[in-house]
This record gives sequence, structure tokens and C-alpha cells, in this order.
Amino acid sequence: MLEETLQALAVGPGGRYIDGTTGAGGHARAILEMSAPGGQLLGIDADPASLETAQQNLAGFEGSYLLVNDNFSNIESICRANDFFPVHGIILDLGLASMQLTATGRGFSFQHDTPLDMRFSPDQKVTAAEIVNTYSESEIANILYRYGEEKRSRAIARRIVESRPIRTTTELASLVAKIVGHGEDIHPATRTFQALRIAVNEELTRLESALDQSVRLLGFGGRLVVISYHSLEDRIVKQFFQQDSRDCVCPSDLPECRCGHVARLRILNKKVITPSDEELRINPRSRSAKLRAAERILSREEDEVSLEDHFFLTANNRSLVRNCLEAGSPTPVAPGVTPLPRRAAM
Ligand SMILES: C[S@@+](CC[C@H](N)C(=O)[O-])C[C@H]1O[C@@H](n2cnc3c(N)ncnc32)[C@H](O)[C@@H]1O
Repeated sequence: MLEETLQALAVGPGGRYIDGTTGAGGHARAILEMSAPGGQLLGIDADPASLETAQQNLAGFEGSYLLVNDNFSNIESICRANDFFPVHGIILDLGLASMQLTATGRGFSFQHDTPLDMRFSPDQKVTAAEIVNTYSESEIANILYRYGEEKRSRAIARRIVESRPIRTTTELASLVAKIVGHGEDIHPATRTFQALRIAVNEELTRLESALDQSVRLLGFGGRLVVISYHSLEDRIVKQFFQQDSRDCVCPSDLPECRCGHVARLRILNKKVITPSDEELRINPRSRSAKLRAAERILSREEDEVSLEDHFFLTANNRSLVRNCLEAGSPTPVAPGVTPLPRRAAM
């Protein structure tokens, strides 16, 4: 989804971008290429091994990027600490990188017999082994049901508890396969592995938190692009964009607005963007990818009431924005950066 991502981010020369899921640096490199001259990128990844690969892939762009080994749920404090805001665009390409799936010893895949780890970062405390070997039967069933939408969650949880200790990926996968059977076009343990990975990395709560923080980091006109790989993630992104693009989020039966909620986003693609046939042919693993994009808007209320207080506008930037608003021209999103040309709506 590289082309689609660059287009959705409206990457342009001199722009400032955050890649919250840098992985091997494929998106990061393309963003730096397209934002030259003068483009800047802050790349985050929870996995230090991914950032080592990214650093190699970003050769030639030294001085234009900064890599930070952290969770994107800390995106706001990372950017504040590095004075990297407001930005033109943020990309979150969720989930796992191919190299993590194929790496032996990470425990993400049942194709290799490795310890049940599944942590993005070695600093995290809880591993998949700890969940399957120490959590109660009902806690495991809930994880499998909520995060894997696994219909046989209770039966699998019961068998897990009866079979403890379970040490490796293949032990767990064959136990699950005996209960679920091989009737579908995915491996019977796929949903169980997805659920454990989401629980180990607290993926859904961290995503919710990162989305909210990201909007605060965007300059007016800046873009937030999220690629998700399963329905639970996509639902969170869709609902967040819908909620944040409405001026009132009161229940529909209230006669008048009491929430005072003000839209901060404009949704750029009502229909999700999915990989092209060409990409599916080259990379079949991209088949579940769904891209959603939204643009930070300046609401009338913010213009009149709180522009002066906008958390991320520096004094210099604030006057630039005000001048642009008065002149009716596009607002720059970072001090000293030439405004990006307006792109056609997606
Ligand atoms: C699909 S890959 C990204 C691939 C990348 N766009 C590229 O072009 O190479 C997802 C990456 O996000 C990282 N990741 C997932 N959740 C994260 C989180 N909550 N915080 C930081 N990194 C995360 C993973 O470690 C992985 O490297």
C-alpha cells in the first residue's frame, strides 16, 4: 500500500512526518524521498530489531530522520521531547512486519517451533507463554473470544489449561487444530495466535490512545493515515474518525447538543482503500489491509476561540497560520516550512 499511503499523506517537499510503525523502513524511506528537499521524519517502533533494519534502509538520509525505540502509545511525549510538532502527516501501518513473522525465536508464527513470546519489545513483561501457562481458563477464553473472535474459545481455553505447561508455538498450534479442525482456508490456530499477540502487546488500547494523541500532533491540514489488518483494528479507526469528524456526539434522542464536541478531522475516504490486484499478486499477505485517512481541520470555534492556545502552535507558527487564514491561503503546518500545495480530495 506504499503508493496509496504516500498519496493519502499528501507527501510534499519540506514536509514533516511521523512513521509510528517504522518496521524495516519501507514507508519511511519513500516519505523521505518524496519530501526532499527539506523533508523530516521521526520514526517510531517498539521493536529495536526493526529499527536496526530501518536504519540500514535509510542510508543516505542521515540528518533528515530520527528513529525512536518506543511504543506509539507514547507518540505525543516522544514528539514533544524531540520538539517535532506540528507535523504534516502521521502513518500507522499496524500489526506485524514480515521479518518479525519469519524471525525464529519471536514466537509470532506457528510455521516455526519457537518459544511462545510474541512481544514487540523485549522490555515488555508479559509473554504469550505467561498468558497460556498462568492465566485462568476464563481469562484465556475471553482473550480468544474478544481478540480472535474465536467461536471455540471456551473449548480451546479448557484444553490449554489441561495441557499446561505449553512451551512452544507448534505445541499450541497443534492443540488448537485438534479442537478447531482444518475446515477453513486459514490455519485453525490463526485466530488464537492473533488474539494472544493482541493481548501480549495491548494492541487495541494502545491504538486508541495513539489515534487521539496523533490528532493533537497534526498541524491544520495535516493527515493521519492508518492501515489495519483485521476487523477489530479497523473498527477502532473507523469509529474514531467518525466521532472526531462530527461537531456533536450527543445521543440522537437529545433535543439539543450538550457535549460541545467540535470536529477536528475530515474523513478523506469514506470507503476503505484496499491493495491493488497487482500488489495482491506480489504480496498475498497484504490481502487484509485496509487504509483509512483523515485530515486535521481548523474549525470555526478553534479559529475564534482557541487558536491562540493551540497547544502545538509556536508563536512563530501561530502568526503564520493567522496570516494565512486572513489571506484565505492554505495554512502551513510547521514553522519555516513552505505550505504544501493542496492535493485533490481522495
Ligand atoms: C506492518 S509493520 C510496518 C512496516 C513498515 N511500514 C515498512 O514499510 O517497513 C508494523 C511495525 O509496527 C511495529 N509496531 C506495532 N505496534 C506497535 C506499537 N504499538 N508501537 C510501536 N511499534 C509498533 C511493529 O514492531 C512492526 O515493526
